[in-house]
Amino acid sequence: MRDNMGKQVTLQPITQENESECIRLQPREDQLTLVASNADSLIHATKEVTSKPHGIYAGNEMVGFILFDNEIYTDGYYWILRCMIDGKHQGQGYGKRAIQEVIYMLQERSDCRQIRVSHVPHNVAANALYKHCGFQETGELEDNGDIILGYQVRG
Ligand SMILES: CC(C)(COP(=O)(O)OP(=O)(O)OC[C@H]1O[C@@H](n2cnc3c(N)ncnc32)[C@H](O)[C@@H]1OP(=O)(O)O)[C@@H](O)C(=O)NCCC(=O)NCCS
Repeated sequence: MRDNMGKQVTLQPITQENESECIRLQPREDQLTLVASNADSLIHATKEVTSKPHGIYAGNEMVGFILFDNEIYTDGYYWILRCMIDGKHQGQGYGKRAIQEVIYMLQERSDCRQIRVSHVPHNVAANALYKHCGFQETGELEDNGDIILGYQVRG
């Protein structure tokens, strides 16, 4: 998939080689409370056996981070647990491309019926991004009040 500038947008696993590049990425200052730091997310990822951390690349440059289930989670869904685009790379379609790429990969799995994501209620950008990609609010909330959205892959 390509962004507006023609750079190819790909998801590549986080390894020892690109881990420090990932940790350096940060959202905008006013977004710091909306998402955990990438360092935190990488620690979290080691405890979540179904999920795998990936860098979001525009060409050869890592512009964002996404953590999503690579196998079905115990509740029967595939979750996108974290997604961020570095502040200086936002607004260029990378978030949208990354989510579309995850949908593309997961819809190949015969056991994937619904992809889920949640966000804090006032995260307007995340809500618009996910709806833009075909997610709908499920009407369910996480225990902490976060809004849950789902993308229906098959019935
Ligand atoms: C949410 C986030 C990942 C969007 O990434 P992005 O690359 O800037 O988004 P895109 O350029 O792909 O935008 C895609 C769509 O998302 C929506 N969107 C993105 N930023 C938005 C904003 N600031 N306000 C409202 N809608 C926004 C729009 O619908 C946009 O489509 P459009 O430009 O055609 O209107 C990015 O803002 C971010 O990293 N935020 C901080 C971390 C975060 O909140 N993560 C989500 C936690 S669940």
